[in-house]
Amino acid sequence: MGKRTQQALIEAALAAREQAYAPYSGYQVGAALLASDGTIFTGCNIENAAYTPTVCAERVAIFKAVSEGYRDFAAIAVATADGGSPCGVCRQVMSEFMLDAQVLIVDGEGTVVVDTTGRDLLPFAFGPENLDR
Ligand code: THU
Repeated sequence: MGKRTQQALIEAALAAREQAYAPYSGYQVGAALLASDGTIFTGCNIENAAYTPTVCAERVAIFKAVSEGYRDFAAIAVATADGGSPCGVCRQVMSEFMLDAQVLIVDGEGTVVVDTTGRDLLPFAFGPENLDR
């Protein structure tokens, strides 16, 4: 990913974070997913009064993309105030589609805190090959 694309992805994650619906935790998260053809899908966390239906920003972005026919991804940027890491559930969902994708974790200013890959975020992932797929 070139520098300009990376900056656009980070800015999209920061903008998506503005849409976060997080009245219970107060922890706003934005994600921007870069498909191999250059399309960007964004997501924010969406909380719920019943708590457990809450969905993370990363999964919203990935599910939006997959539901529109995209399965090949080059990168994802995840923005939080403190540069927090994706949760375990999101790592598992990322591992299904983006083991080789770049994962940029940025803080509220867009500064890259972690630059890694889906595989490095979830070593020894359970995956399609375990089901002979
Ligand atoms: N959250 C995300 O959106 N992504 C993560 O990977 C970590 C957690 C959200 C879920 C919840 O709305 C809030 O952050 C606090 O856990």
